[in-house]
Amino acid sequence: MKTIDEIRSEIESFQVENAENLEQFRLQFLSKKSEIQSLFGQLKNMAQEDRKEFGQLVNDLRDLAQNHYNGFKSVIEAAADKKTTLIPDITRPATQQSVGSMHPISIMMNEVRRIFEDIGFSAVEGPDIEDDWHVFTALNFAEEHPARDMQDTFFIELHPDVLLRTHTSSLQVRTMEKQQPPIRVICPGRVFRNEAITSRAHCIFHQVEGLYVAENVSFADMKQTLLYFAQRMFGDEVRIRLRPSYFPFTEPSAEMDVSCNICGGAGCNLCKHTGWVEILGCGMVDPNVLENCGIDSTKYSGFAFGLGIERMTMLKYRTNDIRLYFENDLRFLQQFKAATR
Ligand code: DAH
Repeated sequence: MKTIDEIRSEIESFQVENAENLEQFRLQFLSKKSEIQSLFGQLKNMAQEDRKEFGQLVNDLRDLAQNHYNGFKSVIEAAADKKTTLIPDITRPATQQSVGSMHPISIMMNEVRRIFEDIGFSAVEGPDIEDDWHVFTALNFAEEHPARDMQDTFFIELHPDVLLRTHTSSLQVRTMEKQQPPIRVICPGRVFRNEAITSRAHCIFHQVEGLYVAENVSFADMKQTLLYFAQRMFGDEVRIRLRPSYFPFTEPSAEMDVSCNICGGAGCNLCKHTGWVEILGCGMVDPNVLENCGIDSTKYSGFAFGLGIERMTMLKYRTNDIRLYFENDLRFLQQFKAATR
């Protein structure tokens, strides 16, 4: 039988390095079948006068073993913790983080904004739900003017004066009502028209309106500004052409086409087989419009333009169906990750 001293030195020299060693330690010194327990068993065979002293020694021995055990246990547990939280398995494949992308219409809106902001325009926004004054009357659409029919309007049924804006030109009015020239703004926004949905047209789409009003603004200023824009957007090799047109709020008025970069001019359904795609309407702000908004038309002149974002996005990203921009099919949208900024 081992002596108390022998057991004590065994406890003190016992090396615990892992969970298995720890369990061996427990079995050897702390379990019911341990040597320390059998020492307790000897107590009953002892003379009364020896019992107290021997009992105290064995108690101390058991406390020593228990203390060692507790110490070892906390070291082993801390090491196990560290293994899982601080030192992960660096060879494990990383969990996939899915990265979102911006909608192509937003990408295009931001790009248009950036180009015009670089030449001194600042962006303003306004309400989608408008009144007749800001969408038509202030913009020189006469009450019975057939031009009102050019834009198939969604009216809010309960109130004939309340409608969804058919163009962002309403922002021209709102801006000029608030501010005297010089004015240099662009107005990005969503517009609505009661139109049949096809690959080329939709009842909801986006425009960016531009307005420059100051002293001595000329048609040549407008043409140069729009050429600069087209070249930054589509590259230096793009060609533009201005065709005479009609808008109630500009005089003279024009529509601007850019060379079709989908078919390279050979003809496709986006350019209606002409090699050119219309991207905006423009013109010199009609003096009546300036006056309607409280601006002196004898002192100031200006140009304005309204460009269609979907059409430009289709050109830039070479897609030939406008409906793709509204269906939100992830297989389509995820292709714009690289262009998201
Ligand atoms: N508002 C016109 C449309 O929606 C586009 C437009 C044409 C805007 C000429 C203008 C402009 O500012 O001067 O078709």
